[in-house]
Amino acid sequence: MDQAVPFHGHSSMYVMHKFFGRNQGRIIQEYIKYYTHKEGEIVLDPFCGSGVTIGEALHLGRKAIGIDINPISIFVTRNTLLYISHMRLLEEFKAIEADIKVDISNLYSTQCLKCGNVIPATCFSWQESKLFDRRYVCPQDGKSVEKVKSFDRDRYNEINNHSINGFFNSTGLLNYWFPENPLYYSGGKAFLKKERYDNISDLYTYRNLIALAKLLDRIKKIHESDLRESFLFAFSSLVHLASKMTPVRPSRPFSSSWIQPSYWYCPNYMESNVWQLFERAVMGKQGLYRAKKDLKLKIKHVKEVDSFEELQEATLPSFLLLNSNITQLELIPQNSVDFIITDPPYGHSIQYGELLYLWGAWINILEGYNDILRNEIIVNSRQNKDLAIYEHLLGQAFHKIYSILKREKYCTVTFQNPSLSIRNILYRSVIQTGFLFERIVYHPPARASAKSLLQPVGSQQGDYFFIFKKPLTEVKRIYHPITSEELEEWIIEIVKDILTAEGKPLPYNQLQNQLDPFLYKKLYESNLLLAFNPKEVKKTLMKFIGTELSVIDNTRKDSPYEKLWWLSDGS
Ligand SMILES: C[S@@+](CC[C@H](N)C(=O)[O-])C[C@H]1O[C@@H](n2cnc3c(N)ncnc32)[C@H](O)[C@@H]1O
Ligand SMILES: [Zn+2]
Repeated sequence: MDQAVPFHGHSSMYVMHKFFGRNQGRIIQEYIKYYTHKEGEIVLDPFCGSGVTIGEALHLGRKAIGIDINPISIFVTRNTLLYISHMRLLEEFKAIEADIKVDISNLYSTQCLKCGNVIPATCFSWQESKLFDRRYVCPQDGKSVEKVKSFDRDRYNEINNHSINGFFNSTGLLNYWFPENPLYYSGGKAFLKKERYDNISDLYTYRNLIALAKLLDRIKKIHESDLRESFLFAFSSLVHLASKMTPVRPSRPFSSSWIQPSYWYCPNYMESNVWQLFERAVMGKQGLYRAKKDLKLKIKHVKEVDSFEELQEATLPSFLLLNSNITQLELIPQNSVDFIITDPPYGHSIQYGELLYLWGAWINILEGYNDILRNEIIVNSRQNKDLAIYEHLLGQAFHKIYSILKREKYCTVTFQNPSLSIRNILYRSVIQTGFLFERIVYHPPARASAKSLLQPVGSQQGDYFFIFKKPLTEVKRIYHPITSEELEEWIIEIVKDILTAEGKPLPYNQLQNQLDPFLYKKLYESNLLLAFNPKEVKKTLMKFIGTELSVIDNTRKDSPYEKLWWLSDGS
């Protein structure tokens, strides 16, 4: 597998629910096809996240095991994969609609400026703590964005004073539950990704809080457990969209999304109509109904099993999900899995435990969550997990991963972090468990925007796939650190080779992306390792400007890069 695979977008099963750093199914599929050979072989992902690898393995007729320390990852994976009759979904949706649509929609009533009819707004915008404008689609007069009127303020006051129909009991108490979990660790320190808001309920206007609470209460009343689970999943997929973390965007005045991987404070935010969000989550283009209809065509009769033994016996295709810390996993025998493909947490960039907490709080699956925050592999200064601890934890995890894989089989580790030191930690922790290093394949980003190319950090930089193999018999290789002089020499030689092969000047990003595959191959062949926290390559290259390299202005207007790197002797 040397070739980069073009990105074709996420298929409908993966777009139902937001997740951070979701893999691209098409690329994963190519790797599974390449490294496993027949139906029924077992593919494992020990950091399965939202379950893309599991879905793709099943699609190819393989058996799959997904492991993740976070119960919310397991919840998302299970509901992404399990088939449920779309006819039953439709029936239940109609029943929910008949029960609560009027009450919830009533919370968002506004008056059309043209015809004067009272209709539900699609959203309101707020500036700081003031209701600002209303955005609605009148069946007669079409879309409109206007300043709020006294009608809208009065409606909001009614809600705040508990005097609106359908939500409060005779003593004025809310009839429904909503989560109030703090955005703090058990020891009292604030989440790393917390800004102004202190707990889950603070992320909402009171209107959206009670709308969500009523919707959730109705969903919990669904009798059949699989159907209930599916609707809880649709519910979970919209709770962030109903929050205050959704900025007003001039380009898309009727919708918004949770654009930052943090509990950020957004002063000018959208308050979206919860009923309409729910309708979209179930019946919309990216909704549950459509995804389950498509799933029937993509993966037939998929079955979840409860143990490894059952998986071995099972008829195709089936999967096993384990909500466990990979390091402590005891349920999978040694030398038992045919292929491992995984995407471990990358340094500090995405705080999975903290961010998935929002969804877990609403669907109430946060039992034992302090242990999850403690054991998750991550860099987080508030939890005293620095780069060295991160390397240690990754090392323990890969020790386990190594033992589970069959001999002479492959382990592919994908990585979206563009920082050399994080990639290097990953390489070091894997290689020191006994794996043989085969190669690195770099997949450029799919639709790289001009902006993403300019950003030094972010997951838009494309994906690295590291390929390792478990040997037939243990080979004890001893690795030594490379000296900084030698590393400098290697880097400049490789960069000159890359530029010569390209035959044209390149932006720094592209140089760096092409460097890794050569650098690591050379290191491995010489039994050398980069230091724990190596100097960024750019610093090394700067030293050679004027001697071996030159930096020139980019004259192309359609390119986001100002500078390009080239050989000082371009001939
Ligand atoms: C980068 S994400 C995986 C994303 C996934 N590839 C996808 O497409 O959605 C990394 C995952 O590792 C999980 N994780 C972190 N520490 C873990 C541990 N000790 N054991 C198992 N899973 C862990 C996190 O909960 C997170 O879901
Ligand atoms: Zn109208």
